[in-house]
Amino acid sequence: MTERYGLVGQPVAHSKSPWIHQRFARATRQDIDYGLIEAPLGGFTRAAEEFRAAGGKGLNVTLPFKEDAYQFCTQLSPRARDARAVNTIRFGAETFGDNTDGVGLVRDLATLGADLRGSRVLLLGAGGAARGVVGALVEAGVTRLTIANRTESRAREVATRFRGVSASGYEALQPEYEFVINATSAGLAGKSPGVPHDVLARAKLAYDMVYGVETPFLAAARIAGIAACDGLGMLVEQAAESFFVWRGVRPETAPVLRELRGG
Ligand code: ATR
Repeated sequence: MTERYGLVGQPVAHSKSPWIHQRFARATRQDIDYGLIEAPLGGFTRAAEEFRAAGGKGLNVTLPFKEDAYQFCTQLSPRARDARAVNTIRFGAETFGDNTDGVGLVRDLATLGADLRGSRVLLLGAGGAARGVVGALVEAGVTRLTIANRTESRAREVATRFRGVSASGYEALQPEYEFVINATSAGLAGKSPGVPHDVLARAKLAYDMVYGVETPFLAAARIAGIAACDGLGMLVEQAAESFFVWRGVRPETAPVLRELRGG
């Protein structure tokens, strides 16, 4: 029997998640349906409850509802608790909330050849997107992790919850990082988060969690002559981990990402 999953967010119309999950389902011979649910602001709980009442088995959650989802779940994974945000819900006796964003990022970075163990990482941004990946970066063995944010106090709030993670504003940053990860939403507005040029120029790789557009951050990285990558691989990897949470089967990601990139 076909089991139903979906993505709740606003907006969701252009999401690639249904296509990705259908590919995973076909490759692993799972019988699922994956739909899009556009909820109004403040309407997450109602949308999720209606979906469950109609027999839905699980949900992905995207902007701006990851914190609402965190409040909504009755049981949380350690990584959801760390992030204080949920992007994956599994309905059962408990409403189980997980967060697969961090694993998704770390797996994609590994695929790109970025060896995080013992590395120095600069994470830009202190909103939900940044919070979702801090725990996974720490676990991956990053030795120096700095969270930089336009509003430095927000960076500090996030950093204090993790051992060995520091916070900064943009101006005070030193050029000492191998990997610079943009978790701000600046690129969506066509803006650059404002990381100093020398910090970017000294890095090996600039990674933007935004996908589908060349953000000013990635453009600056290319001009500085360092490797630059958007967040499409992270999208596929987090989807694969969500699929595993729901179905207990881990789909292969490389062919799906290749196809998405048109290769
Ligand atoms: P999300 O859940 O996507 O992270 P958010 O909680 O609204 O969304 O956080 C957005 C992040 O992008 C914040 O770190 C924000 O910086 P502030 O905390 O200082 O607001 C950052 N951001 C958004 N637009 C930006 C810009 N033009 N320049 C620099 N940082 C920006």
